[in-house]
Amino acid sequence: MSKIYERLEKCYECFKSKISFTPEIALILGSGLGGYADEIRIEATLDYSEIEGFPTSTVAGHKGRFVFGYIDDIPVVIMQGRVHYYEGYPMEDVVLPTRLMKLMGAKVLFVTNAAGGVNYSFECGDFMLINDQICMAPSPLIGENADELGVRFPDMSEIYNKQLRNAVKKAARTLDIPLREGVYIQLTGPNYESPSEVRMVRILGADAVGMSTACEAIAARHCGMKVVGISCISNLACGVSSKPLSHAEVQETADRVAPLFKQLITESVRNISKEL
Ligand code: HPA
Repeated sequence: MSKIYERLEKCYECFKSKISFTPEIALILGSGLGGYADEIRIEATLDYSEIEGFPTSTVAGHKGRFVFGYIDDIPVVIMQGRVHYYEGYPMEDVVLPTRLMKLMGAKVLFVTNAAGGVNYSFECGDFMLINDQICMAPSPLIGENADELGVRFPDMSEIYNKQLRNAVKKAARTLDIPLREGVYIQLTGPNYESPSEVRMVRILGADAVGMSTACEAIAARHCGMKVVGISCISNLACGVSSKPLSHAEVQETADRVAPLFKQLITESVRNISKEL
C-alpha cells in the first residue's frame, strides 16, 4: 500500500469511528466565506485536530473543521478553513483533506476562493466561474503515486467539469447574479504579486490569481472527483489598481459579497446534484 493511502486510511478510520455520514458534494470555502457552513442544516462537525494524522495548523487562532449537513436534502461536507501551501505544509498535507472527502464518499469537489482580478474587465466583488487553471505551485502528485487513488500520469484536459460549470451558470442566471468566467492561476504566496508578476500571469492567460485551489483540483481529478469552482474577485491584482494590497481589503470585499456568494453556492449545489 502507498504511504499516502496508508495515512489517508488512518484518517478515514478516525472519521468513521466518530461520524456516520456520506456526503455527495464536498465544498471548500475560501477567505471570508467560512460562515456559509454555519447556515446549512448541520448534522455533525469534526475538528481537524480530532483526526489522527491530519495536518494541524501552525497559524494561531486558526479554526478548522469539517461540517457535515444538508443543503436542501443534499448531503454535503464543508471544509471550514483549508490548508495552504504557504503555511509551510508539504503538498501531500495540503491535498489530504480533499482526498479524505473523496474517501468519505464525495463525488464532486466544489472549490471557492478569494482571488485577485488580473483581467482588466473584472471589478472588485465580481464572481468568476473557473473554466481552467494554471498551477504554478508544485504538483501535489509529485512523489510516490497513490495507485489506490489514481494513475501516475492523470489527464487534466477538463479539470473543471463542463456539465457542472453549466449548472453554476444556470444558478447565476436564476439568481440574476452576473458571472464572469476565466482561468485561475495559483502561485505559492504568501506575498501578493509584484506588478511585473501580474503582467506575467496575464500574458500566460490567467484572469484571476490566488494562493490555493489549483493543487486541490489536481488531487481531486487524480482520484476521480468532478471539480467545479468559483472565485470571488476580492481585489484588483497588483498593478491593475494603484492601491497597495492588504488582507484586510480581501476580507472586506469577501465579507461584503458573502450573502450573494452564499446564494450562488446554494443554487449551484442544487443544480449540481441534479447532474450526479
Ligand atoms: N493575489 C493572490 N492571492 C490573492 C489575491 C491576490 O491579489 N487576492 C486574494 N487572494
